[in-house]
Amino acid sequence: MPRSHDTDEAVGPPSLPLHRLRFDPPGPPESVTSSDGTRAWEVSRYADVRMVLTDPRFGRAQLHGPDAPPRSDEPGLVGSLDLMFNQDGEDHLRLRRTLRRAFTPRAVARWRPWIASIVEQRLDQLASCTPPVDLVARFTLPLPVEVISRLMGLDAMAQERLRHWTQYAFSDGSHPEEEMRAGLAEFAAFGSALLAERRRAPGDDLTSVLVRAADAEGGIPESQLVDLVCGLVVGGHDSTMTMLGNSLLYLLGERPDSWPRLGADEQAAGALAERLLHLVPLGDDRGTARYAAADTEVGGVTIPAGSVVLADCGRANRDPEVFPSRQLDDLFAPLEAPTLSFGAGPHYCMGAWLARLELHLSLHRLAARFPGLRLVRPADGVEWRRGTTSRSPERIVAEW
Ligand code: HEM
Repeated sequence: MPRSHDTDEAVGPPSLPLHRLRFDPPGPPESVTSSDGTRAWEVSRYADVRMVLTDPRFGRAQLHGPDAPPRSDEPGLVGSLDLMFNQDGEDHLRLRRTLRRAFTPRAVARWRPWIASIVEQRLDQLASCTPPVDLVARFTLPLPVEVISRLMGLDAMAQERLRHWTQYAFSDGSHPEEEMRAGLAEFAAFGSALLAERRRAPGDDLTSVLVRAADAEGGIPESQLVDLVCGLVVGGHDSTMTMLGNSLLYLLGERPDSWPRLGADEQAAGALAERLLHLVPLGDDRGTARYAAADTEVGGVTIPAGSVVLADCGRANRDPEVFPSRQLDDLFAPLEAPTLSFGAGPHYCMGAWLARLELHLSLHRLAARFPGLRLVRPADGVEWRRGTTSRSPERIVAEW
């Protein structure tokens, strides 16, 4: 939800590379007006953001309820009331329990060898190209698409349609209504057919695990299961692609000093991936929304029941009380506290381990195999691919 308020000079032009966005220093909760006219309370200190994201008095479901203040609906799948992200309490827990059975750090560790082999295959293909090449077309897009397709058990046809469906699921709001409806309906029909197929003939993919777990859990409406599968298919690759592309713009454009160590030291590459996740936002959106179900004191200010609250993880990730600014530029320094880039509390990102692993492995191996990789055009001139809340380079032309 883009917003403006009296003291805000920080939101840069929408085409500024994301690592260059500036953030106001965090402060007490303040009343703001978003560009769609919604009044909201914005929280920005690390402790306040954590509190809003973890305290059950702040939920997601009531944002769409009859008592919620009017705000423009999020387009695409993100606005679906069946989506796990828009559920609270027992409904949400049921979905989360189901997914957790499949998505443990231990399970992700077991996926590591085949993710590593997909990374190596992509790098082999890159090495066979004659530079200059577009790293988005050759690496940052196909890699996460292949990983999520293998994970969810998608066939080649579904893999081809993935980007088509993603533009509607994570629409930037520019698609005509009729086209949106048709695109989303086709995507839901795919999700429904995939679930039916795995019920009939289970495999060793995550969709089959989910179907089994959901049937064991019982009581999950099919529409919620369809949105869960569709959400994983698009959410599971789009954010990783976005993160990879924006990270490469930063590293190759402004931090080539970090490239040799990134390629040489796998452990240091893990710390760097974590810091990039912490520092480079997925898009221009400032603040994930919640609804205050009761009057609640946050950071010395009472937020009245019925308010929309925006938790600004980007500002909180730069809170000098928690992250001393002298450390912010050392890309290999371990974080002083858990990053808020994956959220916190009941809606904490289910794919955090997978995203970390993909970013870590792919950046490390790319730097190891292509020590002389460099941008052909500076980061300022890139064209942007825009989603509901994300922005990533359309192309990254590089040579070696
Ligand atoms: C760089 C990559 C990623 C980032 C930065 C990211 C970030 C986030 C954030 C901030 C949230 C919580 C939003 C909120 O509380 O307002 C979230 C939720 C979620 N993410 Fe991710 N994510 C990433 C990758 C993934 C991947 C790879 C998957 C799955 C394969 C995934 C699945 C989910 C799901 C299912 C939720 C909803 C959890 C719930 O509502 O309980 N994410 N993500």
